[in-house]
Amino acid sequence: MEIRRLGDALGAEVIGVDLARPIDAALARRLNDALLEHIVLVLRDQRLTPGQYVEAMRTFGRPAPQNHTEQLMDGHPEIWILDSRRGGLRKDGERNVYGANAWHTDHTNQQRPPKITALLAIRLPPSGGDTLFANAYAMLEGLSAQTRQRIEGRRTVNGADRHLELREDNRHAFAAPAIHPLVRTHPETGRRAIYCHPLKMQHIEGMSPQESFELVDRLLEEAITPAVTYRHRWSPGDLVMFDNRACLHRAVRDYDPDVGRVMHRIIVEGDAPG
Ligand code: OGA
Ligand code: MN
Repeated sequence: MEIRRLGDALGAEVIGVDLARPIDAALARRLNDALLEHIVLVLRDQRLTPGQYVEAMRTFGRPAPQNHTEQLMDGHPEIWILDSRRGGLRKDGERNVYGANAWHTDHTNQQRPPKITALLAIRLPPSGGDTLFANAYAMLEGLSAQTRQRIEGRRTVNGADRHLELREDNRHAFAAPAIHPLVRTHPETGRRAIYCHPLKMQHIEGMSPQESFELVDRLLEEAITPAVTYRHRWSPGDLVMFDNRACLHRAVRDYDPDVGRVMHRIIVEGDAPG
């Protein structure tokens, strides 16, 4: 196994690993160490059956339930099929493409949000459809003392309702408010990082929604600079795993959703953020 850095701030390619083959304890440890160090891992040309994909991700923990239970793969409910053609039409007539086009970390509406998200590229638009990642440790480190002081000790109240049109049964399963620190301590590295999903945030405790969004918008604007980001340009067969406790990500919506961009997603259960 060889590691090649892809970005200055985060991202690395793992070379020489075929996830279709059994992953022994030593390899599992090296992959996890690489994920902790580089935050985003890219493994190219992973030709996996759904069963092999699920097995490979089990190396890192238990696959966690996903929000859209009606779009899970038949026979492999651990896999969510993110298909740009499948989001219904929004009120403005635009297609509701999943994979948010705004900076976020995944599933903050859950009490124990996923520690890892994996995306396997199945079908891509002829151009565009990149995914951006930002190092959330570096985001925190780069803040002015004043902004740091503003966010210190703050907690976000999150739900699925604001952003997603969930089916009624899913709404009940996922819509209970989940309260998380805006700056969390990574349970494995011990490092502190910015942690938020503005589209799922309802407000910050003790602040009005308007004040809360102003604070978070300003925070992200200050914190996310080119120096802390990595842009992934996809090829079919790319498997990208990222540590949701240490980065934010954003799907770039610069392609025609009707041409079809398909990712197979697995999320791995994490701890309650602390
Ligand atoms: C996601 C997501 C990004 C993408 O699946 O959580 O944000 O580029 N996807 O599809
Ligand atoms: Mn996401």
